[in-house]
Amino acid sequence: MASVKYSSVDKWFGKTEVLQGFNLIVQDGEFLVLVGPSGCGKTTLLRLLAGLEELSSGEIYIDDRLVNDVPPKDRDIAMVFQNYALYPHMDVYNNLAFGLKLRKYPKVEIKERVQTASDILEIADLLDRKPKALSGGQRQRVALGRAIVRQPKVFLFDEPLSNLDAKLRVQMRAEIKNLHAKLKTTMIYVTHDQVEAMTMGDRIVILKDGVVQQMGSPAEVYDTPANVFVAGFIGSPSMNLIRGTWDGENFITNGIALSLEGNEGLEQHRGEEVVMGIRPENIVLADASNTTVILPLIIQEPLGSEVLLHFKAGETKVVAKIPSKEAARLPGEVPVRFEPGAIHYFNSRSGEVL
Ligand SMILES: Nc1ncnc2c1ncn2[C@@H]1O[C@H](COP(=O)(O)OP(=O)(O)OP(=O)(O)O)[C@@H](O)[C@H]1O
Ligand SMILES: [Mg+2]
Repeated sequence: MASVKYSSVDKWFGKTEVLQGFNLIVQDGEFLVLVGPSGCGKTTLLRLLAGLEELSSGEIYIDDRLVNDVPPKDRDIAMVFQNYALYPHMDVYNNLAFGLKLRKYPKVEIKERVQTASDILEIADLLDRKPKALSGGQRQRVALGRAIVRQPKVFLFDEPLSNLDAKLRVQMRAEIKNLHAKLKTTMIYVTHDQVEAMTMGDRIVILKDGVVQQMGSPAEVYDTPANVFVAGFIGSPSMNLIRGTWDGENFITNGIALSLEGNEGLEQHRGEEVVMGIRPENIVLADASNTTVILPLIIQEPLGSEVLLHFKAGETKVVAKIPSKEAARLPGEVPVRFEPGAIHYFNSRSGEVL
């Protein structure tokens, strides 16, 4: 087990700067999820930690040991990749044992470690099978097993589930969390899927263009996004982001007045263009006494127990999510209420929360 520290890390590929002054501390035993869009630098961060890529400047520590110049094999880190090619000609036992054999572990210890790992992953009855005789999920477990037998200080996962179908992905997510509960080893898990991040992380780090946008628990980043990027990235369907101006009484967007409650805090931004954010589930059907605005309903999108209502406020699309049983026979113009406690405001230029 170990903590990990990135300190002022810069990484250039030729003339492209991928990371700039990146700082992060991962606690001993933590399950940390790094999430961000494609190309934001997630894999690069893992490869730098594993020693597969060199830093341009800055330091990386594992526990208190500076590892900048430590070769990968001496860093005691195991990485599970998206493309976890198993050796096709070896059975599961030998796939698991291979790395240990290379490192010249004694036979008895190899056997013990393979046994322990295959018990944890419940693949002990598959040890004599070749990979082609395994299901996708079983193969994925063997790939995890290859990392577990190493008994590393830190596990790195780089989108290890993206090749699996949706149902298996949900199951494997739970298994990896379970694995963490059993091993209590520090784990860094990379994904571009915000649902995966929300369901798996104790703590989430949201990255964009190599820069940390926010860190926090899933609840924190969901309930109090630090900026427009996080607000739009976390949550599905994403938060409605509506540009407009507070005139002291109403929020005006595209010439439409929204009568929002509880906006005393906006007084100092009166007349200024801001971005208002509200999640679809916080737009509810209203009655005459508490209507925020009446919006034309464009289309309904049934999701089973809930329905997405797509509205237009002038040019801006607005999406609400309501229980299906409330959605029957809605009129073409629907009075809705924006729940006052659930509204966020952001600076329209910097995107930072107000
Ligand atoms: N060896 C390399 N040479 C040049 N540019 C690279 C190299 N490796 C990565 N990059 C660039 O660095 C940036 C970050 O890449 P990285 O692979 O870390 O992104 P990522 O967040 O893992 O994306 P994805 O979700 O698509 O895997 C990208 O713009 C990529 O093109
Ligand atoms: Mg990547």
